[in-house]
Amino acid sequence: MLEQWIIDALATDLQRDSREGLARQLMRLLRERIRNGQLGGGTRLPASRDLAHSLGLGRNTVLEAYEQLQAEGYLHSQQGAGTFVAPLFRATPPQSSQRGQPLGLSARGKALFHSVGLPQGMQGAFAPGMPEIRQFPHTCWQTLLARHQRKASVAELAYTTDGGLLPLREALADYLQLSRGVRCQPQQILITQGAQQAMELAGRLLADPGDVAWLEEPGYVGAHAAMRGAGLTLVPVPVDDEGMNPAAMNDGRTPRLIYTTPSHQYPSGVVMSMPRRLALLAHAAQCGAWILEDDYDSEFRYSSQPLPALQGLAQDERVIYVGTMSKVMYPGLRLGYLVVPDSLIDAFRAANARLYREGSYPVQAALAEFITAGHFARHVRRMRELYRERQQQLRQALTNSTGEALILSPGHAGMHLVATLPATVDEQAISQAAAREQVWLRPLARHYLSTPTHSGLVLGYAGVDHQEIQHGVATLARLLQEQVHHD
Ligand SMILES: Cc1ncc(COP(=O)(O)O)c(C=O)c1O
Repeated sequence: MLEQWIIDALATDLQRDSREGLARQLMRLLRERIRNGQLGGGTRLPASRDLAHSLGLGRNTVLEAYEQLQAEGYLHSQQGAGTFVAPLFRATPPQSSQRGQPLGLSARGKALFHSVGLPQGMQGAFAPGMPEIRQFPHTCWQTLLARHQRKASVAELAYTTDGGLLPLREALADYLQLSRGVRCQPQQILITQGAQQAMELAGRLLADPGDVAWLEEPGYVGAHAAMRGAGLTLVPVPVDDEGMNPAAMNDGRTPRLIYTTPSHQYPSGVVMSMPRRLALLAHAAQCGAWILEDDYDSEFRYSSQPLPALQGLAQDERVIYVGTMSKVMYPGLRLGYLVVPDSLIDAFRAANARLYREGSYPVQAALAEFITAGHFARHVRRMRELYRERQQQLRQALTNSTGEALILSPGHAGMHLVATLPATVDEQAISQAAAREQVWLRPLARHYLSTPTHSGLVLGYAGVDHQEIQHGVATLARLLQEQVHHD
């Protein structure tokens, strides 16, 4: 593999019409790559016969270059094993300063990169958005997957264009109508690779670059990224204790798209009140905006019955509903869906097939059976109980260790709490110190487009067991103490 890479690189750089001889060029190019760390000690070079053949050179030319570099100490050869870079030369990884400053990005690419950076893989206390994957019914799921994979038809393994496997869209339509009050037929559902892709598709299809997108403040970073990716102008809309508040907006900029999480605002946890839902729908109708409703974790409700989805309330067809299997199954499944008005479904299906292509029909078949056979409902019920317990454990542990220092969000639903910090605490410093100990305390500031009004931490608890909760809380309490004493 590496040998082929060396051949390709030399083929690109060799200049046949140069006055510098080919053997000399070969020596120089190899010497440069060894010196600058691209070829580290121990790297095996292509056999002289292969290199000569691939580059269209005489074998003697290659042998001359290799022998000279051996004489200079850059290479050494081992009888019968080949020619290697001498061990004293060390390969240098790309400089982190170079990696952090990508050149030649578009303005949109830069905005996307600088706002979100490289996502960090987080597991354990208190990674937000992580379900308890360890207690997923893996055996049952694997059996279904294997069976559907085995009997997949050629059509299901080819380029598929149905907007998702029909039995899965039927199962989802039943589920969404019954449990979420979504008005939909299977033909209005488009299966995507998670909510993220669904949002990006909606951003691209329903708004033009430069159009205004309203986003909840604080809000979901994934939605920020999707709207940035679609080239939209991101405008924050404050969230109060009734949810996103359109009445607070009077800057004259009319939104084309409004992203909202009414069932359980991310990250504050507020459930949007009925008057606010009606006000938002009226506002969208008045200014001709689309509403993108992200219903990402409403299966996990711990107190009252959930309010039905905004989509089911709307009299006109202004609401695009987004759902995900990341929380109720697991994020790596990469399966989500959109419910779009009849008039838009062909455009969404066409764009999805053109931009991303469809796929994984056997997995979709397994999921359809997982739902219709009752495994899905059983798993959700078990997880709802487990997450309720874990939230209680987290509350208790925080109260025991930090007293009244933190104000916790209500936690009627979902998989995380927000802990508001005393104004004197530096959330960035706490978060960075905790990350060094593999405890994830996401600063609330990450969720703001403008200057944060609160300082706090987002604490995911769903995928965190009792021991991890105790350890994570002890770490948080110690770091808080240290900050107080330091000040
Ligand atoms: C608000 C919100 N929406 C959607 C998602 C799920 O996104 P995806 O389906 O792309 O995994 C998450 C996951 O963290 C979320 O927090």
